[in-house]
Amino acid sequence: MMTIQFNGTPIHVGSLESGPFNVLLEEYSTRKKVIVVDENTHDCCLEYLLTAFPSLEEAEVMLLPAGEENKALEVCYQVWSAMLEYQINRNDLVINLGGGVVTDLGGFIASVYKRGIDFIHIPTSLMGMVDAAIGGKNGVDLNGLKNIIGTITQPQAIFVDAGFLETLPAEEIFNGYAEMLKHALILDVAYWNQLKVLNTEEELIQLTNIIRSIELKKQVVEADPTEKGQRKLLNFGHSLGHALESYFLSKQPIAHGHAVALGMIGESYVSYKRGVLALDAYREIEQCIIRVFPMLEIPEEAIEELIELMRNDKKNERNALNFVLLESIGKAQVNAEMTSSEVGEALLHLSLLAQHGN
Ligand SMILES: NC(=O)c1ccc[n+]([C@@H]2O[C@H](COP(=O)([O-])OP(=O)(O)OC[C@H]3O[C@@H](n4cnc5c(N)ncnc54)[C@H](O)[C@@H]3O)[C@@H](O)[C@H]2O)c1
Repeated sequence: MMTIQFNGTPIHVGSLESGPFNVLLEEYSTRKKVIVVDENTHDCCLEYLLTAFPSLEEAEVMLLPAGEENKALEVCYQVWSAMLEYQINRNDLVINLGGGVVTDLGGFIASVYKRGIDFIHIPTSLMGMVDAAIGGKNGVDLNGLKNIIGTITQPQAIFVDAGFLETLPAEEIFNGYAEMLKHALILDVAYWNQLKVLNTEEELIQLTNIIRSIELKKQVVEADPTEKGQRKLLNFGHSLGHALESYFLSKQPIAHGHAVALGMIGESYVSYKRGVLALDAYREIEQCIIRVFPMLEIPEEAIEELIELMRNDKKNERNALNFVLLESIGKAQVNAEMTSSEVGEALLHLSLLAQHGN
C-alpha cells in the first residue's frame, strides 16, 4: 500500500483490504453509508466490496444506469430524493464505486446535498484511477454539453485498487490510456517514451504507470486547484474532444477517452500547422494514437456544429476557441486560441485519417 497526499486528500494505492479503508470504515462506523454504483460496477465490483467489508452490508445502494448520457441532473434528483427518504444526514458518507461517470456524478451529489456531506471515491475504471477520480472536480452534463454544472470539492479519501480492472472491458482500458498519454504529452517526455510502446491490456494497467499519472495530475492540480492557469494543461485534447463527444452523444456515442484521443491528434495537428510543434513529434503522436484508437469520419456538414459546441465549452473565455498548444512532447502552453478555420482543418485531417488510416 502506498499513500499519495493530495491537497489534504489521501490517495491510497493498493489492495482495499490492506488497511486504510478499514480504518476509514471504523471512523464512520456509526454513520449511515450510501454506495453509488452503475449497472456494471453493481454486477462486477459491489459484491466483492460487501463481502470483504461486512460492515457495508447495511449501506443503502444507489444503482444508476450506466453511460455518459446518465451523467445528468435528472439522475441526481432521484438520488437526492432517495437520500432524503433514507434520512441521510450531514455526518453520513457517500461511497462512489465506479468509473468517471459514477465518481463525477456521485461526487457532485454528495458535494451539494445538505450543503455537502463527506464522500470517498473507489475508482473502478482505468480512466477513473488515473484521472477522473483525482482532483476534486465533480459534475454533470447539461443539454448535451459536458460538465456544465459542477463543483470543485475534494473527497475525504480515494482508494485505487487495480484489482477492480480485472473485469474492465479492453476498450475501457484503452480509454484510460488516452488520459495517461495526455499526462505524458503535456508534462513528461520520459513517461511518453514508456507509454508509446505499450500494446497489451496487461501492459497498460501496470501500477507504476497508474501512479505516475496520479503524480502528474497531483503536480498540476496542487499548483492551481481552481483552474486559473496551469490546471488548464489537463484540458489538452479536450477542446476538440468534448465537442466530438457531445456531437456523437445523440448519434452514436463515443467514449470520453476515445474522444480525447481524437482531440489530442487534432490539437497536436493545429500546433504543428502553426509551426510550433515539430513534424516528427506530430507524426509520432498521430502514429501512437492511430495504433490503438479507431479514427472516425466527421461529415463536412458537422464542422459548423462542432465549432458551435466548442464555443459553448465552459473552458472558453470571451467566446474564443481556447485550446492547449503543444510545443513539444512533454511541454505545452495554456490559453492559446484556435481560429474556426484551424478547427475545420483539424477536423478534416481527422476525417482523412479515418478514410486512409483504418
Ligand atoms: N472529474 C474529472 O477530473 C474527470 C477527468 C477525466 C474524465 N472525467 C469524466 O469521466 C467520465 C469517463 O470515465 P470512464 O471512462 O471511467 O467512464 P464510465 O464511468 O462510463 O466507465 C466506462 C464503462 O466501464 C464500466 N465499468 C467501470 N468499472 C468497471 C469494472 N471494474 N468492471 C466492469 N465494468 C466497469 C462502466 O459501467 C461503464 O460502462 C466522463 O464523464 C468524463 O467527463 C472526469
